[in-house]
Amino acid sequence: MNRSILAPSLLAGDHAHLASSAREVEDLKLEWLHVDIMDGHFVPNLTFGPETLAALRRRGIGLFFDTHLMLSEPHQYVEPFAKAGANLISIHIEPKYDHATTLARIRSLGCQAGIVLNPDTPASAIEPLLSQVDLVLVMTVQPGFGGQPFRVDMLSKLKEVSRWRSERKLNFRLEVDGGIDLSNASECRAAGADTFVAGTSFFKAADKRAYTDAFERL
Ligand code: DX5
Ligand code: ZN
Repeated sequence: MNRSILAPSLLAGDHAHLASSAREVEDLKLEWLHVDIMDGHFVPNLTFGPETLAALRRRGIGLFFDTHLMLSEPHQYVEPFAKAGANLISIHIEPKYDHATTLARIRSLGCQAGIVLNPDTPASAIEPLLSQVDLVLVMTVQPGFGGQPFRVDMLSKLKEVSRWRSERKLNFRLEVDGGIDLSNASECRAAGADTFVAGTSFFKAADKRAYTDAFERL
């Protein structure tokens, strides 16, 4: 079983001081930062662009940028995000474009490649791509906004993807994103998840050290 990784989501950080929010994550000796990229089309919200990642790198942020593209045309943007400092780029299965070619392109740019499922998309939609990814992200809310309640009905989807992973002897990471807190993270862990995005519950935690330590024990 892969070790647990906590990936705080910059979306819940201070948008006037993004480098400070990223620094808080780094100071806790965490390795990953989840960066949500929204285009106002695929999801009804707007966030950051490649320049945000590049600017964080210029400020010396060395975290692993887990870059979640919520875009109608993600294939048009993988190169700018790779050049800006993304380490992993995840693309949604729902829009129509060449998913396999885009995943291969992400890897050829030197990044890890992830595929993402919205809550209403069945796991079967990504089954043919499983051997080509470093991470599968199962959304546990409808993407677009932080602070929404975790969807417990996603646990069965996690179990399904986790079962395929072991049956086929694959070793992609299995990530959850949306409404994650300490209690539902342990249920997700039991269902096979190993990578936990946390926006609100991380940035609002009164004692981030205690919160992070608890996650590491999952
Ligand atoms: C939602 C984003 C999430 C968001 C999670 O569309 O993909 O990464 O930041 O935020 P919380 O943890 O507050 O649900
Ligand atoms: Zn996300």
